[in-house]
Amino acid sequence: MIIQKNKNISHYLTLRNNVIAELFFEAKSREDLIAAKKYSLDNRLDIFILGGGSNLAVLKSRMDGLVVKNSYVDLKVIDGNEKEVKMSVSSGFPISLLIARSIQNGWSGFEYHQGLPGTVGGAVYMNSKWTKPLTYFGDNLVYAFLIDSKGREKKVGKSYFEFDYDHSILQKTKEILLEGVFILKKDSKEEIMKRAKFAFDYRRKTQPYGIASSGCFFKNYQGRSAGYMIDKAGLKGFSVGNYFVSPIHANFIINKGEGKREDLIELIHIIKNKVRDKFGVTLEEEVIII
Ligand code: EPU
Repeated sequence: MIIQKNKNISHYLTLRNNVIAELFFEAKSREDLIAAKKYSLDNRLDIFILGGGSNLAVLKSRMDGLVVKNSYVDLKVIDGNEKEVKMSVSSGFPISLLIARSIQNGWSGFEYHQGLPGTVGGAVYMNSKWTKPLTYFGDNLVYAFLIDSKGREKKVGKSYFEFDYDHSILQKTKEILLEGVFILKKDSKEEIMKRAKFAFDYRRKTQPYGIASSGCFFKNYQGRSAGYMIDKAGLKGFSVGNYFVSPIHANFIINKGEGKREDLIELIHIIKNKVRDKFGVTLEEEVIII
């Protein structure tokens, strides 16, 4: 295992927070992921698995322990018939590549996630969603292989994940996804592409793109859009230092570059207070806060 020390991982985080990982390792296979977990157990280190780094806000200047960049990229078709296909997809597999493969092959099930950054591991951990119509990333999962807290491999069925809005059990257990096995329906490439394009265009029209952010920052509250509430609290475009609320979609916090952690912390605080004052709602972060 090649472990780097004191590595600046800002480049791996879409919000570009400036943060140093005490120890850093890039895992390129399932064996690498298992070895990393064992290393953390043997050396009593915290371990953090980094997927696409797109749903994280690191408020610390330093992450102690081992940060593992998940670059385990593999997709295998296991079974299929004229109606559906069963496949194993590794946790480090990029969502963009998964959608591209789905469109090429006429596999339906993931197309509404077109435009979602990140990896399969992150999308399962978060149970990433699309709201038009409501579809969750976990919907098509049938079973999966995990690394448990003792570093052992474990096979679990879909119900184990307790998938819900922005929720999977992995957020509690901190088990590490190795591969998910999904069943997708076969459909015409044109139909799949049409749905993918609809989601992509909607995202491009209503959300900021190609800019340092971590996606929607807060969870919606009982079906009420956090973005709508932040907007109506008058915060679109509001900034603290180099962090600001997107003028396009108010649930996106943007880093203009070199944003300071204290400024991000203050901006989060102001957003929560203003929304509480106006709507009586306490926003909860959707991104993982470290
Ligand atoms: N709206 C505003 N101002 C804003 C943002 C939204 O008035 O600044 C209004 C819109 O005009 C619309 C309503 O609020 O009438 C809902 O907005 P939108 O369709 O953008 O949906 P959302 O509830 O704000 C959710 C997800 C997004 C996902 C979209 C589309 C959450 C927290 N957000 O946003 O997910 O892309 O639906 O499916 O659930 C993410 O997970 O990172 C994310 C961005």
